[in-house]
Amino acid sequence: MCDDGAMSKNVGVLGSGVVGETLANAFLSLGYAVMRGSRDPSKLDAWRAQSGPQAHVGSFEATAAFGSVIVLCVRGTAAEAVVRIAAEGLDDKLVLDATNPISEAPPEQSVLQYFTGPNESLMERLQKLAPKAKFVKAFSSVGAPLMFRPDFSGQKPTMFICGDDASARSRATEILTEFGWETEDLGGAPSARAIEPLAMLWCIPGMRNNQWSHAFKLLRA
Ligand SMILES: NC(=O)c1ccc[n+]([C@@H]2O[C@H](COP(=O)([O-])OP(=O)(O)OC[C@H]3O[C@@H](n4cnc5c(N)ncnc54)[C@H](OP(=O)(O)O)[C@@H]3O)[C@@H](O)[C@H]2O)c1
Repeated sequence: MCDDGAMSKNVGVLGSGVVGETLANAFLSLGYAVMRGSRDPSKLDAWRAQSGPQAHVGSFEATAAFGSVIVLCVRGTAAEAVVRIAAEGLDDKLVLDATNPISEAPPEQSVLQYFTGPNESLMERLQKLAPKAKFVKAFSSVGAPLMFRPDFSGQKPTMFICGDDASARSRATEILTEFGWETEDLGGAPSARAIEPLAMLWCIPGMRNNQWSHAFKLLRA
């Protein structure tokens, strides 16, 4: 359910890292109320104190219950555990999944190692764990500083999204438009098998040349 009531302005951000902070601040700037979730919410007290009355912090469960839209931005290796913890609060909600299945093993020649194989994806695993949630892959293939209103001299970069629920993909597209992106809707959840590895590609110039200011764009003839 992606309702239009007051609750639809509540966003639950599961993640205390740089992605969580970036996306939480972006939603706050657009007038949403935001709760950020952590195993230890007190670590986010300073953020809450400086972010105004619409900023809240809580456990992963409380954050999932708070949001009508959820953002999942925890470490890839912890994503399944966090979804299990938060599962009840995710039912019928759009869950924007920014996670990548980056393994504990170090990159090989600037190529991240994943704990998933080519014919599966982390998001499909998460969707199976919380079947009533409406996962949409988004934000996973660009660095945090470029996630909100990226400045490419007037050109909008492309965010590739996918997920099994068409209405959730439409709502994600609306949010991405507010965030300054053009969206390429790739359909059902299996397309995450192609979207998640884009983060590997995105990181190579960063690790090779310390260049992190790029994003993908789909060109059509
Ligand atoms: N950094 C980027 O620019 C970027 C860009 C695109 C996508 N991503 C993806 O976005 C996600 C978040 O990245 P990030 O750099 O913001 O932060 P991160 O350091 O990858 O993740 C931090 C979050 O993971 C949670 N976490 C870590 N270990 C956990 C465990 N064992 N159990 C439960 N929760 C655990 C932390 O929970 P606590 O709050 O409880 O410590 C925290 O909320 C990742 O999947 C990453 O691949 C990152």
